[in-house]
Amino acid sequence: MRIAVAGGTGTVGKYVVLAGQQSGHDMVVLSRQHGVDIQSGKGLAPALEGCAVIVDAANLVSPLASKSAKFFTEGTAHLHEAGTAAGVSHLVTLSIVGIDLVPGYGYYKAKLKHEAAALAGPLPATIVRATQFHEFPAQILSVTRRGPIAFMPRMRSQPISARTLGHVLVEIALGPPNAERIEVGGPEALDMVDMARLVLKRSGKRSSVIPLRVPGKPGRAMRSGALLPGEGGRLEGPTFAEWLEGDDVLAFHPLRP
Ligand SMILES: NC(=O)c1ccc[n+]([C@@H]2O[C@H](COP(=O)([O-])OP(=O)(O)OC[C@H]3O[C@@H](n4cnc5c(N)ncnc54)[C@H](OP(=O)(O)O)[C@@H]3O)[C@@H](O)[C@H]2O)c1
Repeated sequence: MRIAVAGGTGTVGKYVVLAGQQSGHDMVVLSRQHGVDIQSGKGLAPALEGCAVIVDAANLVSPLASKSAKFFTEGTAHLHEAGTAAGVSHLVTLSIVGIDLVPGYGYYKAKLKHEAAALAGPLPATIVRATQFHEFPAQILSVTRRGPIAFMPRMRSQPISARTLGHVLVEIALGPPNAERIEVGGPEALDMVDMARLVLKRSGKRSSVIPLRVPGKPGRAMRSGALLPGEGGRLEGPTFAEWLEGDDVLAFHPLRP
């Protein structure tokens, strides 16, 4: 099957592409590095020719939540429009566990708009809500680390490896659209500050991690478990400790220098 992956060069998207290739599928990357801009629609129609499914793992994190919201809503509208014209039958949209339980947090408000745009059709859509990735502390450190110090928000998470999530997303993409939101997470709940310290140690970096208290209701919700999967969520290994023993943590480019 030909499967398109929006954000197929990203942290999880590249593992979606790899998982599909390992199962013998023809994987098409929709990303600006590959000449496709989902927000403007540039290059989308020819790239989607012959595709049966789209997995949307594209992302824009911005200090301006309105910019993220615009990216997700415009990008999703283009995927629906060009996907329908190309005969696509299923859109799988990646979202985040617990976003409706963290009131007032801008990026999560944008993700709720992303979900709504995906469910608005016309393509039948499945929303997959994942917990933070094992790679998430490294993604934050790549922004907050300055030599000997780094900052990390205090939050509880039940992280999943992006490589594992890539396989789960391909499996879901091959199945029928599911009107229910599907939750996917890792095997154990952890503290993000502890995870960041372990990532730095494994990467041979000596920076100290300073915990940040996200203010107000969003911060309280993140610290008190709003981002953990609910009952019935699909939980997949490896554990964070097992993952740290492998090489994926070192392959994560922002911590290299
Ligand atoms: N990170 C986490 O822990 C986590 C947890 C749960 C869910 N999620 C969700 O998972 C998704 C992917 O997150 P991520 O952390 O893997 O993202 P990421 O590493 O930041 O990758 C973003 C991807 O989006 C692509 N992209 C950005 N702008 C684009 C545009 N205009 N047109 C086409 N492609 C564009 C980028 O490729 P180019 O630069 O080549 O365009 C890149 O491949 C997001 O929806 C996020 O909310 C993330």
